[in-house]
Amino acid sequence: MSVQKILKMGRQLLLEESEPITEFDTPELHQLIADLWETMKATDGAGLAAPQIGVLKRVVVLGYDKDYHPENMDSVPATVLINPQLTPLTDEFDERWEGCLSIPGMRGAVPRYTKVRIDAFDVFGKPFSRDAEGFYARVAQHECDHLDGILYPMRMLDLDCFGFNDAFEEDEQAERAAQP
Ligand code: NI
Repeated sequence: MSVQKILKMGRQLLLEESEPITEFDTPELHQLIADLWETMKATDGAGLAAPQIGVLKRVVVLGYDKDYHPENMDSVPATVLINPQLTPLTDEFDERWEGCLSIPGMRGAVPRYTKVRIDAFDVFGKPFSRDAEGFYARVAQHECDHLDGILYPMRMLDLDCFGFNDAFEEDEQAERAAQP
């Protein structure tokens, strides 16, 4: 298992559709999942999709422990999703900040369904289903989009809310300094 290079926005491969997994419990699949975990943990992300490490397969990992990141609202349970399908469980969506390991240093406000059902397979090919809401639902939608070649800026409604983290922070600091 090893930390892999993460492809950045601009690489053609990130815009391609990934192939479903047809053979489960193979050494290659176990290796891919181990690499995804290792790479995600090395970068402090909440999720990572196989195409981001250059593999056009429908595999994502999700996981985020809020105890290490108290500024964030929810934890995301550590989950491997193979051939995932998402079904919205509500018409409601909200718009919140997102970042992406393929678009380092930037963030944007992205609308996402607040609640989705996830149907997927585990590494042994066993199907499972679970409902996700809030940050968990958001991360699942973001990562599954990668499998269809969709990056979060393509989902944004207002590009005024897209920019560099440090630039947003400069404005926030200036605002705080201006307060009496
Ligand atoms: Ni991403």
